[in-house]
Amino acid sequence: MGICAATPDEALQFRARALAADLNLRVAARADRACDLLLIVTDSGLELHETGRSAVGAVKVDLGRTGASARRLATASRRQPIARAIGLKKRTPTILDATAGLGRDALLLARLGCTVTAVERSVILGAMLRDALERAATADAAAECPKCHFTLVVADAVDVLASMSAPEAPDVVYLDPMYPQTGRSALPKKEMRILRRLVGDDSDAGALLEAARRAARNRVVVKRTPHAPPLAPAPSTSIRGKLARFDVYLTQT
Ligand SMILES: C[S@@+](CC[C@H](N)C(=O)[O-])C[C@H]1O[C@@H](n2cnc3c(N)ncnc32)[C@H](O)[C@@H]1O
Repeated sequence: MGICAATPDEALQFRARALAADLNLRVAARADRACDLLLIVTDSGLELHETGRSAVGAVKVDLGRTGASARRLATASRRQPIARAIGLKKRTPTILDATAGLGRDALLLARLGCTVTAVERSVILGAMLRDALERAATADAAAECPKCHFTLVVADAVDVLASMSAPEAPDVVYLDPMYPQTGRSALPKKEMRILRRLVGDDSDAGALLEAARRAARNRVVVKRTPHAPPLAPAPSTSIRGKLARFDVYLTQT
C-alpha cells in the first residue's frame, strides 16, 4: 500500500509526505503497480483507491449533509431499525461504536443526538475519519457539527473496552464487523471490496462481542446481513431492516 497526492500542488504533496511518515506508508506514484491500494490526498479529503485493471474505484469518508437537511435526516432516522435497536425511544444513550469503518453508522448515531465514541483499529481508516471530521468541524456551524457528539479513537476496541472503568462504560456498544464473504452487505459492493482488501475479514469478531458484553451498561447491538447467523446464540431480540438485521444482547440485569 502507498500514498500519493492527487495533483502536483505543493500543499497536497507536503500533506502526503507528512501522512506517509505518520502512517508508515511509502510515497508512491499514482501509476505504481507495486501498490494494491493507494491512499490519495485530494483537496477535498483522503480517498482510498484500488489499483490495477480490475480496480473498482475509491472509498472516502463522507460526512454528507449538514445544517437543516441533516436535521431532517436525523428526524426521519428516529424510526429506522438502528434507532430502535439502540433503544433510542426511551432515552438518548451513550454509544461506543467498536467498528467505526467509514463512520457512516457512527455519524448517523451522532446525528440522532447520541454521544458516540467511534473506535477503529485500521490506522488508514482512522486517518481518513480524522481528516473528514476536521474538515466538517471547520465547515459547519458549531451547533450542527457532528464532531460535537463524536470522539474518534484509533485502537483495537477489545483493548479500549477492557480498559474502561465502570463510570466510563457506554450504555450501548455497537458492532458492525465485516460480513462473511458470501453475505450481502449494507455497504455498496465496491466499497466492501476495498474495505475487505484493507482490513480483512474481522474473524475475531466473537472476541469483540464478548468484550462488548462485559463493558456495555445496557446492551450490545450487532449489525448483520438479514440471513447471516447471529454472532452469538440467542440475542434478546432482533430488529429487521431491508439491508440489515440488528441483534440486540441486553446486558442490564
Ligand atoms: C464493516 S466495517 C464497519 C462499517 C461501519 N459500520 C460504517 O458505517 O462505515 C468493519 C470495521 O470494523 C473494524 N474493526 C473490526 N474489529 C475491530 C476491533 N476489534 N477494534 C476496532 N475496529 C475493528 C474494521 O477494521 C472495519 O473497518
